[in-house]
Amino acid sequence: GEPIDIALGDIAPGQTVRRLWRGRLVLIRHRTEEEIAQARALDGKTVISPQADAERVKPGHEQWLVVYGHCPHAGCIPNELAGGNLGWLCPCHGSEFDLSGRVTRGPSTENLAIPDYAFHADGLTLRLG
Ligand code: FES
Repeated sequence: GEPIDIALGDIAPGQTVRRLWRGRLVLIRHRTEEEIAQARALDGKTVISPQADAERVKPGHEQWLVVYGHCPHAGCIPNELAGGNLGWLCPCHGSEFDLSGRVTRGPSTENLAIPDYAFHADGLTLRLG
């Protein structure tokens, strides 16, 4: 599939948009400052598949979390947890993911995967692929 461009200007802080790309669902979360701080506070505590938040976002664009919306356990689509900005819960077997897409509760043993993406120079457009 071809790369696709996604305009970021209309995605409000605290909002997630979903895009189908190459047959898979991609979640693009505009994280608030509070959410970024929450994610960083969990660094070193997400022990199932340890990764720092900084490893899962692009430097200078930490407000954007871009992950595949398919649970690594068996491919179900996790639901966003409303209120409290907690992350995602997989409806199939209960895996949970934080606002960095890191698994915080199994059975998944992997974090939500991150697609190839980059930001245009204006910082207002994201290119998947
Ligand atoms: Fe998500 Fe099993 S598919 S927990």
